[in-house]
Amino acid sequence: MLWSTPIDTRAGESPILSAIDGNLPKLAYGERMFVSLIAAVALNGTIGRNNALPWQIRDDMRFFTNTTRGHVVITGRKNLEAMSGPLPDRTNVLVTRNREYAMAGVHVVNDVESALRFAEELGETEAFVIGGAELFHAAKPYAHRFYRTTVLAEVDGDVRYDDGEWTGWDVREIGRGSRSAANEHAFTIELLSRSGVPRSYRRR
Ligand SMILES: NC(=O)c1ccc[n+]([C@@H]2O[C@H](COP(=O)([O-])OP(=O)(O)OC[C@H]3O[C@@H](n4cnc5c(N)ncnc54)[C@H](OP(=O)(O)O)[C@@H]3O)[C@@H](O)[C@H]2O)c1
Repeated sequence: MLWSTPIDTRAGESPILSAIDGNLPKLAYGERMFVSLIAAVALNGTIGRNNALPWQIRDDMRFFTNTTRGHVVITGRKNLEAMSGPLPDRTNVLVTRNREYAMAGVHVVNDVESALRFAEELGETEAFVIGGAELFHAAKPYAHRFYRTTVLAEVDGDVRYDDGEWTGWDVREIGRGSRSAANEHAFTIELLSRSGVPRSYRRR
């Protein structure tokens, strides 16, 4: 894995911030928390197959783990149900329209805005929306950042994430990896930063 600069992986920090040269956009006056999407997307938009990741890319998984560790992660119901359980070392928030839903070790809410308010009330500085596609789409209007891994292959799948053009977002490459025994596909990792202020998730 070739990083442009060394990635700081200490828990509880936003490792990527210290690894990027130059100034990233700051929070606007009154904002207290960055909202970030983090996803791996194939060239044809595929992100999932049979409710699982359709690839094994160890170094991107490490990037995901190191970046989100210590933070609030917000997940769609299908994504979390497909995993073996809540992600360790993170506060897991699950979004579902089902008002009766419960899962041990998970905070359940019924919309994205409630998830973001919950994270902010905890004192979170950067909340991560970790998918799947339906949740990414719902959360995009609130997002400051998108940590986007592009999997450099066309991959068969049944869930795609394509939110059209990311015009108005600054794009910078922050890492890349070659195909290897551990990484099924080559990939790049970019950080997209919104230049304007996202929609507010706070109650008016
Ligand atoms: N490549 C990647 O980076 C990545 C990341 C994550 C997931 N994935 C893949 O993506 C697939 C799952 O994605 P998906 O789009 O099918 O499902 P999903 O977004 O994980 O979950 C969808 C469910 O979440 C709830 N939900 C989503 N948005 C909501 C909103 N705005 N308000 C209230 N509830 C909301 C609903 O739950 P209820 O039906 O219970 O109401 C909805 O049915 C899997 O294949 C997974 O492996 C890939």
